[in-house]
Amino acid sequence: MEFSIKAVEAVRAGQTELIRGKTDALVLGLFEGVSPSGAAKAADQASGGLIGRLIKASDFTGKRGSQLLLSEPPGIGAARLVLVGLGKEEDFKEKAFVEAVRIGARVLAGTKARQAVWNLDLPHGRGVDWAAQTVVQTVRDLTYDFIARNPGLKTKTPPSAPALRKLTFAVNAKSAAAARAAIARGAAVADGVDFARDLGNLPANICTPTYLAEQARAMARRLGVKAEVLGRKQIEVLKMGAFLSVTAGTVQPPQFIVLRYQGAAATQAPVVLVGKGITFDTGGISLKPGKGMDEMKFDMCGAASVLGTMAAVATMKLKINLVVLVPTCENMPSGVATKPGDVVVTMSGQTVEILNTDAEGRLILCDALTYAERFKPAAVIDVATLTGSCVIALGHVNSGLYANQEELADDLLAAGRDALDTAWRMPLDEEYQEQLKSNFADMANIGGRPAGSVTAACYLSRFAGKYNWAHLDIAGTAWKSGAAKGATGRPVPLLTRYLSMLAK
Ligand code: BES
Ligand code: MN
Ligand code: ZN
Repeated sequence: MEFSIKAVEAVRAGQTELIRGKTDALVLGLFEGVSPSGAAKAADQASGGLIGRLIKASDFTGKRGSQLLLSEPPGIGAARLVLVGLGKEEDFKEKAFVEAVRIGARVLAGTKARQAVWNLDLPHGRGVDWAAQTVVQTVRDLTYDFIARNPGLKTKTPPSAPALRKLTFAVNAKSAAAARAAIARGAAVADGVDFARDLGNLPANICTPTYLAEQARAMARRLGVKAEVLGRKQIEVLKMGAFLSVTAGTVQPPQFIVLRYQGAAATQAPVVLVGKGITFDTGGISLKPGKGMDEMKFDMCGAASVLGTMAAVATMKLKINLVVLVPTCENMPSGVATKPGDVVVTMSGQTVEILNTDAEGRLILCDALTYAERFKPAAVIDVATLTGSCVIALGHVNSGLYANQEELADDLLAAGRDALDTAWRMPLDEEYQEQLKSNFADMANIGGRPAGSVTAACYLSRFAGKYNWAHLDIAGTAWKSGAAKGATGRPVPLLTRYLSMLAK
């Protein structure tokens, strides 16, 4: 999909151009309960009061979620007019905006229009750049087609590709440059999201740790990012005993991916992103029940999201330094797999009694968090599909956010709100640490049923004491189940927005 900006000199002239200009489709928003204004008013006048009559007859009221497709509207240059209900003007905030974009895009997708012009009605407090970037990301999200992008998975010829090729936003000349930059940012984030979704959706027999490392390398090469992949031998030399205990039961070789992007002076401390890369989580000897186990192919979505974020950051050439770390392996049962009760020595030197081999994410992450110390980071953020209990706590709406520093937490929460990829702050009170007591090692890897997401974060916090640290539990947000089963690409938008804010 191509997105472009049409700069118009003055609002009135722009509206005339918008209304008269030849295009396959024109998308206009209408508020509920008020007579048409702006571009909608211009369209109404040009069409001899068509929109007014539709409103009068209650055929179109501007109600949030409503839509109307008109072909060959009189007096208007577009072959099709798509009206989208924006709801009450005073309620037109970010979420209503995105909903309207989704609806407009779906109507367009149902037509043969190859290109369309979109008039942007801005939500309260947001500029044209925010709106343009959001439309790009929303439309790209909607038109993502895993099967078309990964031929060979379904052998039947796919239905023909959607007709829509190009979306143009008409904006005032003075905001044209900002809008163009916003489109480029939106496309970069969307590319990162697509990359993360592809990796997440690929089955675990294709997306192995080796495949993940190859994809990371290829992306790094393409975007001028330094890549290094450590194999088993090097992981052993580093004494990553917790990571090694998780990979013990599988024949797939583990990988530790290190990517380094330099967009600022070498003296500037980097942000380090760490992603959980369990390419399949059977639970190990603490085997998971069979139902829905296929979804544990998504247990590398944290890894996919930090790789997608790296791709977006390098594409945007952000003026920051960024390191991405991905410990990746399978969690499988076997005759040589780690057993409940086994005690391992982590890279930090702390010992862990593995009471449940299904609490494996924290075991690979804790060694990566220790490895992160060598970068003298400004902040470390790990991203993981860590706990089912986070899904119970927050559902599929917010990612769980934990942090040992207030400013980092606030910045990440704000970035999430801005990017419509929200997180919710969770507690790390020291009282929860009690639950990790072990009779046989420095700590246990599980803390029992109460506050399972919190105790997982508490476990990680013991390896993140030397720097500012945040943890995003994305177990509920990284993928969808049911008919629309598939990876979401979250939290690439949140992370990219956070890093863009740092670059300013
Ligand atoms: N990958 C899972 C977490 C998960 C489960 C995410 C279901 C999304 C949906 C993780 O490795 C895991 O198995 N966690 C256990 C921890 C428990 C054994 C303390 C869990 O959440 O049940
Ligand atoms: Mn598990
Ligand atoms: Zn897992």
